[in-house]
Amino acid sequence: MTTSPYEHHEYDVLIIGAGGAGLRAAIEAKQRGLSVGIVTKSLLGKAHTVMAEGGMAAAMGNVSSEDNWRVHFRDTMRGGKMLNNYRMAELHAKESPDRVRELEQWGALFDRTKDGRILQRDFGGHRYARLAHVGDRTGLELIRTLQQKVVSMGTDVYMECKVLQLVHDESGRVAGAVAYWRPTGEFVTFAAKSVVLASGGVGKSWKFTSNSWESTGDGHAMALWAGAELIDMECIQFHPTGMVWPLSVRGLLVTEGVRGDGGVLRNSDGERFMFNYVADMFRAETAESEEEGDRWYEDHNAGRRPPELLPRDEVARAINTEVKAGRGSPHGGVYLDIGTRRSAEYIRRRLPSMYHQFMELAGVDITREAMEIGPTCHYIMGGVKVDADTAATKVAGLYAAGEVAGGMHGANRLGGNSLSDLVVFGRRAGMAASDYVEGGSGPSGFDWGEVESAVSRALAPFENENGENPYDIQRDLQEMMQANVGIIRTGDEIEFAINELETFTERVKNISVKGGRAYNPGWNLATDLPSMLTVSKCTSRGARERKESRGGHTREDFPKASAEYGTFNLAHTIAGGAWDGEITTERSPLLTMPDELKALLEEGK
Ligand code: FUM
Repeated sequence: MTTSPYEHHEYDVLIIGAGGAGLRAAIEAKQRGLSVGIVTKSLLGKAHTVMAEGGMAAAMGNVSSEDNWRVHFRDTMRGGKMLNNYRMAELHAKESPDRVRELEQWGALFDRTKDGRILQRDFGGHRYARLAHVGDRTGLELIRTLQQKVVSMGTDVYMECKVLQLVHDESGRVAGAVAYWRPTGEFVTFAAKSVVLASGGVGKSWKFTSNSWESTGDGHAMALWAGAELIDMECIQFHPTGMVWPLSVRGLLVTEGVRGDGGVLRNSDGERFMFNYVADMFRAETAESEEEGDRWYEDHNAGRRPPELLPRDEVARAINTEVKAGRGSPHGGVYLDIGTRRSAEYIRRRLPSMYHQFMELAGVDITREAMEIGPTCHYIMGGVKVDADTAATKVAGLYAAGEVAGGMHGANRLGGNSLSDLVVFGRRAGMAASDYVEGGSGPSGFDWGEVESAVSRALAPFENENGENPYDIQRDLQEMMQANVGIIRTGDEIEFAINELETFTERVKNISVKGGRAYNPGWNLATDLPSMLTVSKCTSRGARERKESRGGHTREDFPKASAEYGTFNLAHTIAGGAWDGEITTERSPLLTMPDELKALLEEGK
């Protein structure tokens, strides 16, 4: 190993990201006695995981004894419009209950049924009440529990440390990463025998998002630059209920738990409009008969569930249509009403964060007044292509879990499936990364050339005297993506976006940053923009290639799902590992599902 010119650390397993998946992976590797470093550009405890408020889906059957992994598998595949990696959906449905029980053993304080079992609530697209929860703060409890465990195991955590790029050895195996400290601007290198990417999502490339500043697609982009493939990047989830007013908090999440606990959606005429969309949405998705649509709805809702609990893509599109038809609220959303349906005591007990959020930020008392809400960019179903069982990517030694990994949720994620995804596949990634290290197949060197080029690229904005302000580029990118690759897309808009993104590439090369490197938010943003641009390009290219509507990808010019397009994912690769390299998009066939799982999907049809 050449002596590093920078602060340098060495680990068996390096984990990038401190959300649910990263922490769960770390626990697994630590339990095996390996050395583990976790790097996060944010603070421990502040991951986007906390934004999965309403619960963690797991077929425990505590509230509905009929529930089991088979029904959960079927709901997940149907919700994902069959684009899911079936094996991930199967593992997820089978293993989630154990992961919930494990969290409980580690100290998570779930809400309880009257007889003392973990309480489960209704959520969209889940046939039975399936979400283990802690009021409307479930993600927070999950992070708190995992964080306590990780810290108690003596794991090294590097906070406010932003990873710029993965580093290989001479034979293309992953060998670590190069990063910088946000407080000082000093560079730091991590050599590792294996790396787990658990860096979350991409929402900050859109204007209205529930995601906080961290979600700039760093892991997606780094994986692509390092030689991995990204799939399904066109499938972006617009959560139906984000705040729309005041503008300063537009996009902030309003948990699906409000609808799960009885909240309903109304338009400006006071109509519960979701009833009007049930059969239409089904026809748009499948191009089959109305009778089949009705049958599906009956099954999906077990004859009792309100249409507000249809899968998120369907509810978000219905809201969008109401607003476009002039039946929206004053600030461009619709109304979410729980105050006329549940007691004030119930609302404050079940949804304490929502109560405070609206009271403090909008001056709205949700126990008496309806909330104004509208769709907000919440989650990307697409991500790094991984092996279902091991979370391994195409790059030796590189694993990916959580939102950064693709496949599990297909074209649309069901609410609550994210928290369980994090712990099911975080654990599996930690296991496989540890096996790889113990098997002795780690890297044989560390490419310092890659380190130097990442450092030069990061520092370039300081040398550029008269370039552009990164905040201008960020604002324009977010507006452009929101307008052209948003909830409903047309071929012309997508083509426009693809061309525009080329001009953004030139603008990013011409960024100027003033001041020093310590705590310089403009510079920090300048280092995020290449990732934001890379994921935007993949999303736009996938959206152009997928000439159908499916889940979180709706094309006005191709409003129906297509049998042909439902047989493949769209996989992106990049030339030469450079952030501005040419991106190639190809069809990647779905895995063939075994007959016994196919039969599960037929049940209840
Ligand atoms: O609405 C929510 O509480 C979000 C949950 C999720 O994204 O899984």
